[in-house]
Amino acid sequence: MSSRKFFVGGNWKMNGNKAAIDTIIERLNSNKNESVETVCAPPQCYLEYTRSKLDAAVFVSAQNCYKVEKGAFTGDISPAMLKDLGVTHVILGHSERRHVFGETDELIAEKCAHALENGLTVIACIGEKLEEREAGQTEAVNVRQLTAIKKAISDWSKVVIAYEPVWAIGTGKTASPDQAQEVHQQLRAWMAAEVSKEVADSIRIIYGGSVSGGNCKDLAKKPDIDGFLVGGASLKPEFVEIINARN
Ligand code: PGA
Repeated sequence: MSSRKFFVGGNWKMNGNKAAIDTIIERLNSNKNESVETVCAPPQCYLEYTRSKLDAAVFVSAQNCYKVEKGAFTGDISPAMLKDLGVTHVILGHSERRHVFGETDELIAEKCAHALENGLTVIACIGEKLEEREAGQTEAVNVRQLTAIKKAISDWSKVVIAYEPVWAIGTGKTASPDQAQEVHQQLRAWMAAEVSKEVADSIRIIYGGSVSGGNCKDLAKKPDIDGFLVGGASLKPEFVEIINARN
């Protein structure tokens, strides 16, 4: 196994209320696993509430943020505000931001650059749609999305890449361990060729898309899968099993 620290993020999306969050936090606070970087991403209105109740060993992430520090951008939030709340991570480029809200590769890249400049760790999501996979475009789409980010940033030390095939998100159709490993390996090879061997060796590439307590152990055995970004199952007791997938 590599020296890359296993990373598990729970993306709660637009779900939960204080009572439900209390239950999730109770489970997380009683599961100590220092070998895993564990992160929770609540809806933005619950970021501070979550941060105040979670054990300090678990990080809090936003699900999105904007590309500038402040100003007339109704409804948005900035990395500076996130830091002010004790939030250390941000998910950017999630497929729902790309495909429901129409965010472009370029906007996502600008957001990544601004978040990194402000010291946040960026969970940068990429992934192909079903028709793109069926048309043999999986690698090209992922590389296109990564290339946009590469043009905007120079320091990858606080970037975690989340490979999330759109057809696997919330569908119950997980990529098989071999399918996921194949893409992760391609992405690492791309990083080695286009960025550097050191970055390729050290960057975490995590998988997302219908990860569950049932499939996490087999996925976690693959050499280029360094963790997970979990949606639906991050709200359930099985999230703890996913955090501990490599134990
Ligand atoms: P899912 O979502 O685990 O519910 O498929 C993953 C994600 O959107 O990050």
